[in-house]
Amino acid sequence: MSAPHSLVNSPADWWRHAVIYQVYPRSFADGNGDGIGDLPGIIHRLPDIAALGIDAIWLSPFYTSPQKDAGYDVANYCDVDPVFGTLADAEKLIDTAHDLGLRIIVDIVPNHSSDQHEWFQEALASEPGSPQRARYMFHEGKGDSGELPPNNWESVFGGPAWTRVIESEGTPGQWYLHLFDSSQPDFNWENPEVWEMFRGVLRFWLDRGVDGFRVDVAHGLIKEQGLPDNAYAKEAPLGNRGPFWDQDGVHEVYRDWHKVLEGYGPDRMMCAEAWVLPLEKMAWYVREDEMHQAFNFGYLATAWDATDLRNVINESLSAFGGVGGPSTWVLSNHDVVRHASRMGLEYQSEGQPTGIGPLSPNKPDAGLGLARARAASALMLALPGSAYLYQGEELGLPEVIDIPDEMRQDPTFFRTSGERYGRDGCRVPIPWESNAPAFGFNDTGKTWLPQPDTFSSLARSQQVGVAGSTLELYRSVIELRSKHALGTGSLEWLTGYPDSVVAFVNNGVAIIANAGDGDVALPEGDILVSSGELSDNLLGPDTTAWVKLPS
Ligand code: GLC
Ligand code: CA
Repeated sequence: MSAPHSLVNSPADWWRHAVIYQVYPRSFADGNGDGIGDLPGIIHRLPDIAALGIDAIWLSPFYTSPQKDAGYDVANYCDVDPVFGTLADAEKLIDTAHDLGLRIIVDIVPNHSSDQHEWFQEALASEPGSPQRARYMFHEGKGDSGELPPNNWESVFGGPAWTRVIESEGTPGQWYLHLFDSSQPDFNWENPEVWEMFRGVLRFWLDRGVDGFRVDVAHGLIKEQGLPDNAYAKEAPLGNRGPFWDQDGVHEVYRDWHKVLEGYGPDRMMCAEAWVLPLEKMAWYVREDEMHQAFNFGYLATAWDATDLRNVINESLSAFGGVGGPSTWVLSNHDVVRHASRMGLEYQSEGQPTGIGPLSPNKPDAGLGLARARAASALMLALPGSAYLYQGEELGLPEVIDIPDEMRQDPTFFRTSGERYGRDGCRVPIPWESNAPAFGFNDTGKTWLPQPDTFSSLARSQQVGVAGSTLELYRSVIELRSKHALGTGSLEWLTGYPDSVVAFVNNGVAIIANAGDGDVALPEGDILVSSGELSDNLLGPDTTAWVKLPS
């Protein structure tokens, strides 16, 4: 499909500096009022998002799915779940985005399918050792009668990563692997049929005009030969260590996919969701013949601390630059505690901050969190490379912590018997209008997760055109970023500031982010934007300002 009119002048490597906005379909806008967001809802609200000045949207999965993991359990990769609409709606959404000048990236989930996928149903109905079972990871158990799982692997969502099936004769038989929920069996990427199936899925969406893919669990597809026990079982579940993460063979898959994309022209891209550290190792995913971007989770997991920030920025630019790729920058997504809350915590845990736990006495300070989040976003959007935003962060939305247990949906909550809240708190339907049912998410007031009253004052309608609002801050920095070409610029550190200040110049614009306790004098020049109020050229704590230096 040829590039649509409004994108004709967009360069082929648009992704190198793009600002990409993540739409989480369940929670963005609900067209039919059933309480779950859908594609017609997105189409309707898309102009509001385009008005932010972003370059592209990434859509989390909307494919046919029993929704056991909010759509990351896919039963049919080439169709739309009725809860979200129809294939015709998806095509209309792609065209609408293009007409608005937005590129569109869809999610692809290659590590596992839903247990309702035709292939898995066939596998269950077939004999051990059959070609149908060979598409997934079926293995005999250990112990006298195979009653123990094949190894000690644990699910990222808690509990064992293996489930035993009942064979046709009615007796317990083989076990299948699921790195996530038991309803998400892992594919066997040693099987060429799996490769061929996914090439077909890529082509299916490329044929419909999508500009790229966000690749789910990109570091998980290949498992270590012989499936040895995990020596790192006690570590954080989404770390990069263990016999199922970041195996070298995984890169072959992306080399293969790269060729599929190339067949559609030079402007199609892929972004890896790969929780791999150090960043130097993550950068392998974006080598020239593989993917184009990887989410910079090292950056996401960095606290509001100037030294840590300088270090991770240096490390990112050198790791991704080292393979000729751009760095990405990201602070929030549908899997982590929203940064407006994360940054209001007394301490910030290392690794993937997935949900503030019921056992944790640590409640975020909302005011502090929001001030820091605004400063952190203003800093992030000044960095060279590509930035990812998550729906609602432009409104300054906090994590919703007080969701009644009986309303929680994330499998993490159930698989850990309530010990981990999981990710519902960042997935609550977003507010559009302060005085409408469901804050404008739909017109019936139904929502699949409850919205807190605090969403009223944060609704988009309260912020549009209001100087100093978080929404207007995002709009201004995105506009200035583009005007001063910061995405394609380069970073030079400024000296003479305290250690607790992040200060650099990018294309003649000085960016000063104050993570310390005292005031900091701004350099001379035109103040372009500031994440908080300034007094007399003094930048207060937890504030970022952009200053155009005299040329
Ligand atoms: C990724 C997704 C997450 C999902 C998991 C399993 O980490 O971002 O939401 O639960 O993969 O597909
Ligand atoms: Ca709906």
